[in-house]
Amino acid sequence: MSQHNTHALPSYLDPGHLGPWGIYLEQVDRVTPYLGRQAKWVETLKRPKRVLIVDIPVELDDGTIAHFEGYRVQHNVSRGPGKGGVRYHQDVTLSEVMALAAWMSVKAAAVNLPFGGAKGGIRIDPRNYSRAELERITRRYTSEIGSIIGPHKDIPAPDVNTNAQTMAWMMDTYSMNQGATTTGVVTGKPIALGGSLGRVEATGRGVFVVGTAAAEQNGIPVEGARICVQGFGNVGGTAARLFYEAGAKIVAVQDHTGTVHNASGLDVLRLLKHVEETGGVAGAPDSEPLNADEFWGLDTDILIPAALEGQIHEGNADRIRARIIVEGANGPTTPEADDILNDKGIFIVPDVLANAGGVTVSYFEWVQDFSSFFWTEDEINARLERMMHTAYSSVAGVAAQHKVSLRTAAFIAACSRILEAREVRGLYP
Ligand SMILES: NC(=O)c1ccc[n+]([C@@H]2O[C@H](COP(=O)([O-])OP(=O)(O)OC[C@H]3O[C@@H](n4cnc5c(N)ncnc54)[C@H](O)[C@@H]3O)[C@@H](O)[C@H]2O)c1
Repeated sequence: MSQHNTHALPSYLDPGHLGPWGIYLEQVDRVTPYLGRQAKWVETLKRPKRVLIVDIPVELDDGTIAHFEGYRVQHNVSRGPGKGGVRYHQDVTLSEVMALAAWMSVKAAAVNLPFGGAKGGIRIDPRNYSRAELERITRRYTSEIGSIIGPHKDIPAPDVNTNAQTMAWMMDTYSMNQGATTTGVVTGKPIALGGSLGRVEATGRGVFVVGTAAAEQNGIPVEGARICVQGFGNVGGTAARLFYEAGAKIVAVQDHTGTVHNASGLDVLRLLKHVEETGGVAGAPDSEPLNADEFWGLDTDILIPAALEGQIHEGNADRIRARIIVEGANGPTTPEADDILNDKGIFIVPDVLANAGGVTVSYFEWVQDFSSFFWTEDEINARLERMMHTAYSSVAGVAAQHKVSLRTAAFIAACSRILEAREVRGLYP
């Protein structure tokens, strides 16, 4: 670094407590040696382009006034407008939103979507507020970040504790301020408001598509393959159903209510119905219960973590006997566990590739909103499959070329694309 270079860390971060942003910086350092000539531009990845912190004052139902801290971070917009969800959680921090925004830059570029990365959040536990209060909070937050979002600037979407209704309020607030109905400002909207068919299942379907590609690459026929799934919600439930319909055996499923096992394969359609009726997999018909820890030691072909972050860690990675792991969740594997699994020769399809189906159909939603012309579900699923296949092959090609894991390869492919865009755009002024 030249003596004229700027500081390595922005002054608004505490070097002693970097949090998730620190993990992201480590990941960038790991791929830098593979970036060749473009490594010259790597500092651009290590600082977000724009960070907005807003105060959200709201009158609560009892007449008192509360203030909430809100964020919108645009990590990189070299390849297109920012894209990324809005999270409502009491523990949201600036470091976390920065890291999530950066991972969105990586995910969009890994799948070659014309988006940059962004993320937003409010420090709030939404369970403590009424629907009317959440609507006012969402509307004020949208207004406060309104100057930096927009269909050509930055397009929010749902994330933890936000949903299609939240997006409808955001879209309406933005439209009111603009004086024009602007459906393309957010994705993950209700179908009645320019949402896309296939969006709900998109992430699980993407997990199935790349999981099948990984199985083929490793010589494992999907028909008859044994699969364990952690998390049986939107992502895990959909992926499990698609693998089941393709002839795989879902031998164990774990969710927040318990773990169920059947060595000859669970009836996934009955299990989905059971979860709908009872709220969880515990007590499912034709299954035996396992304790939570036994789940990780099961002999299986494919393991799909699709629940929370940090589930595969130093404490259980050693016992995992899967041949392939397909990361449906965001960040399910800690960096320490990742090293252990790689040493054991377990083939991992990383989150930035495996769960990119959701943002891919969000991209379709944005495109459909611009043209006000909506595609059929079959068209959407076919296009999703094509994009996920192309992304998988291109990342697998990079992995073979550099003899690295798919995770490192996905970062190399993504960072190279972002920095190439940075380079050809040049610096303004
Ligand atoms: N929904 C999407 O489009 C999407 C896109 C990309 C990534 N993801 C990621 O996928 C993961 C799952 O998201 P989702 O939309 O399916 O959520 P969801 O709320 O529909 O389902 C979550 C599942 O995890 C289970 N779970 C919760 N706590 C658990 C615990 N302690 N042990 C075991 N299981 C537990 C729940 O019981 C539920 O089955 C998250 O990491 C999310 O960030 C989701």
